[in-house]
Amino acid sequence: MNNQVNPLSILREATHSQLPSPFKPVIVRLENISKIYGSGETEVRALADVNLIVEQGEYCAIMGASGSGKSTVMNIIGCLDQPTKGHYYLDKANVAVLSDADLAQIRNLKIGFVFQQFHLLPQLSAVENVMLPMVYADIHTSEQRDRAISALKRVGLKNRLNNKPNQLSGGQQQRVAIARAIVNQPVLLLADEPTGALDSRTTQEVMDIFSDLNNSGITIVMVTHEPDVARKTRRIVWFKDGEVIHSHLTPSEISQVQNSKQ
Ligand SMILES: Nc1ncnc2c1ncn2[C@@H]1O[C@H](COP(=O)(O)OP(=O)(O)OP(=O)(O)O)[C@@H](O)[C@H]1O
Ligand SMILES: [Mg+2]
Repeated sequence: MNNQVNPLSILREATHSQLPSPFKPVIVRLENISKIYGSGETEVRALADVNLIVEQGEYCAIMGASGSGKSTVMNIIGCLDQPTKGHYYLDKANVAVLSDADLAQIRNLKIGFVFQQFHLLPQLSAVENVMLPMVYADIHTSEQRDRAISALKRVGLKNRLNNKPNQLSGGQQQRVAIARAIVNQPVLLLADEPTGALDSRTTQEVMDIFSDLNNSGITIVMVTHEPDVARKTRRIVWFKDGEVIHSHLTPSEISQVQNSKQ
């Protein structure tokens, strides 16, 4: 038997393990995305030639002034809206060519959403709310319940499984919404101002959960107005007037951008 090791293969392995960024799978690829609402005098250019890449495992904050296009880009990334122009690849799939039914399925399987207003169904318990994304999947109800319970445990709510939203604090409701967003093990977790309706202590708790989820490998893109929230992420993308003006700020660079009134 030939026990000789090929030095080239060792080199290749070593090189790969040291090459994080360029060789990580790309989850979101936006190419020259524009979004125009309305027409004629009422036309609004919400996004203008946006290029953005988010790799697997990233934790990005999207920041910028009100009206700069943050929610618009999130809706496109989340397949809730289509761009007027440009290409979008989600986990390598060309989203533009998909039918509405395929889009809905991709959304359900690949993306978890968390919004500022938790959007829980008031008549359902925490467990039942978290089971909702699995309703259309071919999963037995008892398995759905088990998965919902483990998602709720993951966000620290194992003692609130049967509470309805009005029996939960704001922070707890948002944690239910996070459990609902991760229960299908999405490739991408999107959050649009998830701490916007929370006080500072609860914001901290929710941000700790997002950090834990990212540390376990979930890719997260989060819109926020709050510098303290953005500082908990790893990369900040800054929008102005529908354009990306900074795509790779570090948390410590936020104040420089704010001070320069960008
Ligand atoms: N459905 C719509 N119809 C017309 N114009 C829209 C629509 N949605 C957004 N816009 C406009 O597009 C621009 C970008 O809006 P967007 O909601 O993306 O901003 P944002 O950065 O999320 O702001 P905020 O921080 O206030 O949430 C704004 O000028 C807004 O008025
Ligand atoms: Mg918005």
